[in-house]
Parts: sequence; C-alpha cells; structure tokens
Amino acid sequence: KAGFTIAIDGPAGAGKGTVARRLADHYRLNLLDTGLTYRAVAHALLRLGLPLDNVSAAETAARQVDLAKLDRSVLTAHAVGEAASKVAVIPSVRRILVEKQREFAKAPPGAVLDGRDIGTVVCPDADIKLYVTASAEVRAQRRLAEIESIGGTADFDDILADILRRDERDMGRADSPLKPAADAHLLDTSEMAIEAAFLAAKAIIDDVL
Ligand code: C5P
Repeated sequence: KAGFTIAIDGPAGAGKGTVARRLADHYRLNLLDTGLTYRAVAHALLRLGLPLDNVSAAETAARQVDLAKLDRSVLTAHAVGEAASKVAVIPSVRRILVEKQREFAKAPPGAVLDGRDIGTVVCPDADIKLYVTASAEVRAQRRLAEIESIGGTADFDDILADILRRDERDMGRADSPLKPAADAHLLDTSEMAIEAAFLAAKAIIDDVL
C-alpha cells in the first residue's frame, strides 16, 4: 500500500486547494494539486497553437509533465483552467497523468492530493477521502471577490455560467467524472470561511485517525 494518503475532490472554487494546502502543512505531508497537471497539458497545446482535441499532441505533452516543475504562475490563468477541462476528457491523457500522480502519492511520508478523481480513481485506497463542495452561487461570489481584490472587474452572471459549464463538463464526462467516492466525507463550505473549512476537515481526519 502507498504511504499515508489524504484524497480531496470537489468542483472548482469549493476551497479544496486551500484546505489541501493547510492539511499538508498541518500533517507534514507532500502536496499535489492534480489540476495543475491537466493545466500543464492544456498550456502546452495553447502555446503551440494546437487544438485541445489533438490527442497525440496532448499525449506527448502529458508524458512531458514533470510534477516537480509545475509553474503555478503560468498555469492558474482562467483560460488555462477552461482548456484543462477539455484535455481532461481524453482517456489516454488521464492514464498518463494518473500514473504520475500515483507515483507521487507513494513517496514517503505520504501525501495530500486534490482534484476531481482522487478518491475514485487515483487513490481508491486513500486513508481519508474528503469531498469538498459549495453551492455554485457561493463559488461564483468567491471568484468575483478574488477578481475584484486584484483590481479586476467581472460580471457575476458570466462567472456563474462559467462555473456551471465547468461543473457539467467535469461531472458529465465518461472517463473519471467528478463525483464523491462512496466512502468520502462530505464537507460543504458554502457557509464557511477558509479557516473554518480547514478546521472542519481536520476534525474529520482526527476523528478517523
Ligand atoms: O482544479 P483545477 O481547476 O485546476 O482543474 C482544472 C481542470 O482539470 C478541471 O476542470 C478538470 O477538468 C481537470 N481535472 C481533472 N482531474 C483532476 C484534476 C483536474 O479532470 N484530478
């Protein structure tokens, strides 16, 4: 069996990334945001000007993904996330990335991985599985606040429509759709600030340990 593993899944904007980072710090585990691996593939295709459904180019880009060199500064752009959800429907790309993610999870002392299919596909034997969610309206509101906090402007209804479209693509795809694992603990952060969400996750984990 792999090292101690915490699997965190959920839709975009639910707060799972921040919860994952806080948990990795607290329990001193390695951390992998698996969304960055799909974003890296999408970014490579965008940079080359190739369509996102070019399977062989996407496979090549997936093989070249180096987990130690994922550059958050270029990968977090909104357009890259949208493109990532398009390459993420390609089964062969998923197989290549999942293999790398499993290797990461095995390394001592263990890891927190967050994504869409960690509890269901990547680490089905994880010690703890969390499904972190929040209403689409709350997630859109958070995203708007984030954009405004860096001086940008956006329309709430556009953001909400974006989020609903991404949910539909991630939950509706045939290969590894986003859904809670049967043994996942559900954490709805709609009414929680980030610190409360971390504390709630920690309480769930400490209860199981
Ligand atoms: O979490 P993040 O927004 O960075 O993920 C970008 C996209 O990558 C998601 O919308 C999803 O389509 C895909 N993804 C995935 N499986 C994962 C992580 C991300 O399909 N484990």
